Amino acid sequence: MADKDERTPQVPSGERWARRLVCSRTGVTAPLDEPAFLSPAGAPWLVEYDLDPGKGEAFRRSLANRPWTLWRYRELLPVADFDGRVDLGEGATPMIRLRRFAPEGIELWLKDESGNPTGSFKARGLSLAINRARELGAPGVQLASAGNAALALTAYAAAAGLPARVAMPEDTPRTIFQRCRDYGAEVLSGPGTLVEAAKLLEPIDPGGERYWTLSTLREPYRVEGKKTMGFELAEQLDWELPDWIVYPLGGGTGIVGMHKAFDELERLGLIGPRRPRFVVVQTAGCAPIVRAFEQGKEAADPWEDPRTRVWGLRVPRAIGDFLVLRALRETGGRGVAVDEDRLAKVVDWIAAHEGLRVGPEGAAALAAVEELEAAGAFSPGERVVVFQTGDPANYV
Ligand SMILES: Cc1ncc(COP(=O)(O)O)c(C=O)c1O
Repeated sequence: MADKDERTPQVPSGERWARRLVCSRTGVTAPLDEPAFLSPAGAPWLVEYDLDPGKGEAFRRSLANRPWTLWRYRELLPVADFDGRVDLGEGATPMIRLRRFAPEGIELWLKDESGNPTGSFKARGLSLAINRARELGAPGVQLASAGNAALALTAYAAAAGLPARVAMPEDTPRTIFQRCRDYGAEVLSGPGTLVEAAKLLEPIDPGGERYWTLSTLREPYRVEGKKTMGFELAEQLDWELPDWIVYPLGGGTGIVGMHKAFDELERLGLIGPRRPRFVVVQTAGCAPIVRAFEQGKEAADPWEDPRTRVWGLRVPRAIGDFLVLRALRETGGRGVAVDEDRLAKVVDWIAAHEGLRVGPEGAAALAAVEELEAAGAFSPGERVVVFQTGDPANYV
């Protein structure tokens, strides 16, 4: 009789499957364990892994014995020093069935990211980015942010012992400035959106060379953290991906990350080729990706005069636009630009009927579900997962 270990193969502890960096535009490669920002083509790098279907089953079995944080997917994460990592308990957020908000005949789930450290899904990406920045020798870290990314960067930098600087639009809620200072960071602010805020960093640190700039998709590791949302929802749904994923979009790391996650799971033989349709949600006052998708473009023109009080979605231009648009087309997805005047009603309805407090970004995604339903997008029996990305308390 086979012994227990033969019957239930596990991945040997300490294996790291990350192999190298690959340019998302040209396919040019670079070594993994050296500092990396954009590729020579000016495009995001993506981490490539050594994967084959022979590894999948042992990986899946190993998960049973691991704690529920995003680090349970350790072989599919790029850190070199796993045991020495900075870990604030990120990931492992609940999937909550919305029975009362769900359109008739549709199975609707909310992936509620608000329980992450610092109250938003930004913790996932910045946890990985800060761990890698520390491993690769960054003297300090910085970024421009609509708010939640600044909270996450400053918290993880504090835990990693790295100096941090953040720049935010001056109309960002004041409590976010204070919390970033509590984490020991230098805080800058000025008029405009995060595009203008990024310009505040340049004169202090030209080219972001002294402090490493960890902006969305301008370094390879935030995507690696965000992709764990895709692993989690696959595992939470017993490796049966949903039919739709509805996601409030700013810079788009989550979409790029989940698309990558599903490809990695397929290469491990844990899922088949079928993909959920990705729906990206922006507000009518700032919808560059939705507009580009509808115009059939491969990249998005910057949105002139962005007007929205849904802070996380006020992103007029995104360096990963072509990757998001590619993911929408490859999955038969689409974009929805919602009218933000409806969002307060959605927030109130969800509180009164589902017992949940959602942030404005999550409310935008829920409003998009109503629009998709009204447009007849769903078929009976379909399963839909909506992302509620941040704690509304961050905006108070
Ligand atoms: C709560 C929340 N949701 C969604 C987004 C958009 O995320 P991304 O820029 O990764 O697309 C942000 C970005 O700031 C956010 O804070």
